[in-house]
Amino acid sequence: MPTLRLTIRVAGLAALAALALLPLPAGAVEDEDCLACHADLEDAAGERIAADLDQLSESMHGEMGLACVDCHADVADFDGEHPEKLAPAACGDCHDDVLGAVSESAHMGQSCGDCHGGHEIRAAADEAAPTSLFRTPALCASCHEALGEQASQYLDGIHGRALVKSGLKFAPSCVTCHGAHEILPAGDPRGRVYRTKVAAMCGSCHEGLISTYSGSVHAQLDAATGEARAVCSDCHPTHAVGSRNLPAWRQAVVAECGECHGAMLESFSDGFHGQATLLGFARVAKCSDCHGSHDVLAVDDPASRVAAANVVATCSGCHEGATANWADYDPHADLSSPARNPQAYWAQGAMKVLLASVFGFFFLHTALWLPRSLVAIRRGRDAGAAPPARELDA
Ligand code: HEC
Ligand code: HEC
Ligand code: HEC
Ligand code: HEC
Ligand code: HEC
Ligand code: HEC
Ligand code: HEC
Ligand code: HEC
Ligand code: HEC
Ligand code: HEC
Ligand code: HEC
Repeated sequence: MPTLRLTIRVAGLAALAALALLPLPAGAVEDEDCLACHADLEDAAGERIAADLDQLSESMHGEMGLACVDCHADVADFDGEHPEKLAPAACGDCHDDVLGAVSESAHMGQSCGDCHGGHEIRAAADEAAPTSLFRTPALCASCHEALGEQASQYLDGIHGRALVKSGLKFAPSCVTCHGAHEILPAGDPRGRVYRTKVAAMCGSCHEGLISTYSGSVHAQLDAATGEARAVCSDCHPTHAVGSRNLPAWRQAVVAECGECHGAMLESFSDGFHGQATLLGFARVAKCSDCHGSHDVLAVDDPASRVAAANVVATCSGCHEGATANWADYDPHADLSSPARNPQAYWAQGAMKVLLASVFGFFFLHTALWLPRSLVAIRRGRDAGAAPPARELDA
């Protein structure tokens, strides 16, 4: 495509001229000065250190006609020799905005070349670039598989499979969520994945869920922290996003609800639905079957699924023909709380008293009988021991 190449070249040169950032002084070092050695050279260990000129000339920088010392700026005053080790390429001389972002990011220790390569730098729109949409997960994973679980979780999760395996360009890559140069730790409020920004970030694709979620009790701001009570990443594992059709995921969501609603998880686990869930029956009611998922409302909100007017319908979803009486069953019965479950509490109390009196009575009974029994046994033994004595006498 000569026309396109020419266009790119012209555009590149124009941009270069516009930037007016060529750091070359007059009578500057020529590429030939470098190529005298670097066209064909091996280092002491026999490693070829020749600059890959084909890669360079095929890259966009090569097409723009960048000189060696535009990037290897520390040899700009080259006089025939240079130190064994040189500074990383001075990409920031031209891309100073990018350099600024990277040097304030979590990757301040990484060089531009670590992600972009050296001489083969291509635009992200080029599918062969390591920074292109479908290849970034592999790029990030090349370091992060050794640094944490996120990369492998992502690659196994629904987003990673959709992007990398199914080639679905609408699925997020690491860069979609984290950015490329401005990547920061999750706890940094300037970062893209800071907790308060997560709902909007996930919602940029899952747009249809946002209005439902926004009306829920969890989108309301917590008085103490000023942040939403629960965001997407509190209920969904961010990287190991699974399909909702997998029983394992539905079990996991119960645990996530329980992270914040510990007492409710405990009482749920004591009840029938909870016991069955723990045994692995995915069909039984989970938190979200009764409360909803993105539309959870306060239980005293008349529109709530568990409000008096709606609870029968909620149970009927699974218990055909459920009545108001049936729905009286408290899924969070807490037998230790007289305030929450007075009937169950007192019934349980009465049961305890009954058991205590029955066992107490029989204990007392046995205790009183014991001395008599012992006397009886001793008498019996005495009676049985006499005959041998008589035999001796005989
Ligand atoms: C006289 C030969 C010679 C010339 C001329 C020369 N170099 Fe080198 N260069 C070397 C050798 C030898 C090494 C390998 C050092 C090593 O790793 O042992 C090297 C290494 C390098 C490296 C890798 C440094 C690193 O930190 O690993 C760069 C970049 C480089 N040269 C750029 C240039 C540029 C740009 C020019 C022209 C301005 C140039 N060289 C001219 C001999 C030369
Ligand atoms: C677009 C910027 C750029 C230009 C132009 C450029 N280089 Fe490099 N070069 C790099 C980067 C990036 C690296 C990888 C190391 C690093 O991060 O600094 C590199 C690495 C090298 C190395 C080390 C061996 C290797 O291949 O990794 C040599 C030698 C070298 N360059 C020579 C040259 C020579 C000679 C020229 C001119 C013909 C040149 N470079 C032009 C950016 C550039
Ligand atoms: C002498 C100035 C200069 C240097 C040094 C330089 N670049 Fe560039 N680079 C440009 C110009 C000009 C463009 C084309 C205009 C644009 O898109 O920004 C460009 C384009 C790019 C692109 C593609 C942009 C796109 O549109 O997708 C990437 C990626 C890139 N450079 C990375 C680097 C890296 C990494 C280095 C260091 C190894 C580097 N550049 C060194 C001037 C430079
Ligand atoms: C952690 C990996 C990483 C590092 C480090 C990194 N980049 Fe990038 N860079 C990327 C990715 C990924 C993209 C593609 C962004 C996208 O798809 O929106 C990119 C895109 C670019 C672009 C083109 C912007 C565009 O619109 O396509 C330029 C220019 C660039 N980088 C320059 C640099 C320079 C200069 C440095 C060093 C100061 C650097 N990068 C360091 C990963 C990195
Ligand atoms: C060349 C190796 C390398 C590459 C490639 C790389 N990273 Fe990193 N990344 C690191 C290192 C090293 C750290 C800092 C050490 C740490 O805290 O784990 C880091 C830190 C991070 C952090 C902050 C983690 C924290 O706990 O502070 C995030 C988020 C991150 N990287 C995401 C990415 C993404 C997304 C990509 C791909 C665009 C990527 N990284 C590519 C090496 C790399
Ligand atoms: C769908 C959006 C999304 C994608 C895709 C994604 N992340 Fe994340 N990532 C997040 C969010 C949100 C957080 C912070 C909350 C959390 O850990 O759940 C995070 C946290 C991290 C952290 C820990 C940061 C810290 O400070 O603890 C690292 C490292 C990381 N991601 C790397 C990656 C890498 C590497 C990839 C790609 C292989 C990737 N992420 C893909 C959204 C995403
Ligand atoms: C209070 C916990 C909670 C929050 C907060 C939450 N989700 Fe969910 N999400 C769930 C539960 C539970 C399900 C499973 C619903 C089911 O099985 O019917 C689910 C299901 C999903 C599904 C699958 C489609 C469906 O409804 O079955 C997607 C996609 C999703 N959530 C995305 C998001 C996004 C994006 C956000 C943030 C805007 C978010 N979730 C916030 C608990 C939550
Ligand atoms: C770039 C767009 C994009 C972003 C951002 C995004 N997702 Fe997704 N998500 C998708 C696509 C596309 C799918 C469907 C993949 C498939 O079915 O193969 C999906 C699937 C899901 C599923 C599984 C749904 C099901 O029916 O099983 C959940 C859960 C989910 N995403 C949650 C999240 C969360 C939480 C975030 C934010 C941390 C997020 N997504 C960010 C595009 C996105
Ligand atoms: C079978 C249906 C059902 C299931 C399953 C269920 N709940 Fe409930 N939940 C209810 C009903 C009904 C109420 C209202 C009880 C009342 O009137 O106090 C309630 C009340 C609540 C409340 C309000 C606080 C309170 O003290 O009453 C929270 C929070 C809650 N549930 C969380 C959960 C969590 C977390 C789970 C999963 C671990 C869960 N629920 C499972 C039906 C259910
Ligand atoms: C990050 C913490 C967090 C997670 C995770 C979470 N919630 Fe909540 N939820 C809250 C807070 C905070 C409130 C408001 C205070 C309260 O009433 O407990 C709330 C309120 C509720 C209420 C209304 C309670 C009432 O008093 O009326 C219900 C019901 C509820 N959540 C159910 C769930 C379910 C079901 C899940 C899982 C799908 C879940 N929550 C996950 C923090 C969380
Ligand atoms: C997602 C489906 C689902 C929902 C919603 C649901 N349950 Fe259940 N429940 C089950 C299953 C499955 C069983 C065990 C099978 C059986 O014996 O019926 C069960 C068992 C029970 C049992 C004990 C077993 C029995 O049959 O006596 C009670 C009591 C009960 N549920 C009450 C409720 C109440 C009250 C509600 C509404 C607040 C409710 N359930 C909502 C699925 C559900």
